[in-house]
Amino acid sequence: MTVTVTRDGKIFRSRSPVLHAALAMPGAICYSGRGPDPPEDSGGVIDLHSHILPGIDDGARDWDETLRMCRMAAEDGVKTLAATPHIVEGLYLNETPQIVDRLDELRHRLGGAAPEVILGAEVRVSANLLERLATGAIPTLNGRSYLLLELPYDIVPPGLDRLIFQLQVQGVTPIIANPERNLRIQQHPDLLAPLIHCGVLVQITAMSIAGEFGERVRACSETILQGRMAHLLASDAHNAAKRPPGLSRGVEAAAKLIGREAAKAMVSETPRRVLEGLPVEIPAPVIEEKGTSRCWWFFGKGNE
Ligand SMILES: [Fe+2]
Repeated sequence: MTVTVTRDGKIFRSRSPVLHAALAMPGAICYSGRGPDPPEDSGGVIDLHSHILPGIDDGARDWDETLRMCRMAAEDGVKTLAATPHIVEGLYLNETPQIVDRLDELRHRLGGAAPEVILGAEVRVSANLLERLATGAIPTLNGRSYLLLELPYDIVPPGLDRLIFQLQVQGVTPIIANPERNLRIQQHPDLLAPLIHCGVLVQITAMSIAGEFGERVRACSETILQGRMAHLLASDAHNAAKRPPGLSRGVEAAAKLIGREAAKAMVSETPRRVLEGLPVEIPAPVIEEKGTSRCWWFFGKGNE
């Protein structure tokens, strides 16, 4: 993976050893991913994580619910919605052709109505993930260079950093899905910082930051946001009732913590770049520590 680092108006493109040195310089900003320079932001809310395809995971039960969820998303302002059914070894054995078939049928049933629906999957960490990705059995988001990656519920699996590196060698940038719901990360949100340093992006869920999964999840979401460790906000919608589509409440909650422009970027500019396979700017994480703040790793106190 090529990583671009800028400092004082200068641009450096390198693999990780040089990146590490460049990031040690004051004012460094990291861009993750690959591809040409970014296009202008054309507007429109994008939701990169939903379980709208019926009958293939624990999401929508049937086409009626799928279409109801799509209408709800559109009414909330979502212009583009990624269908990301679970792929979990031994539980949800979805593969790209099956997902594409359902997606094509959904497009037909929508008949051109919003939202535009996009290919994806939420892929649980597993031993055969790399092999299945290489064969095309697992789809990336919009068929480009980002993969929505799900951690187990309770642990950060050993070897995750190695998996991240191996994905990057294949030209794929992982996006960690809703880490605020992982028990281990709830206890130690700073575990995300070295993963971000390795080049991953982080997606938190709108209902989490809005407090609809409880206080512990909300508090963890706030820590991640305020630590500049969240790059995307998505719905992770599962149904029309208890886990519905829509991002507006999450954006409102996030805006109170990080400002409106930054919150909006998490549902517009950043996911657009992901869908196009373009690099994404990643600020250095900042970990709050007993009333003071410091930048993680070797970014040095006093950095941006
Ligand atoms: Fe999900």
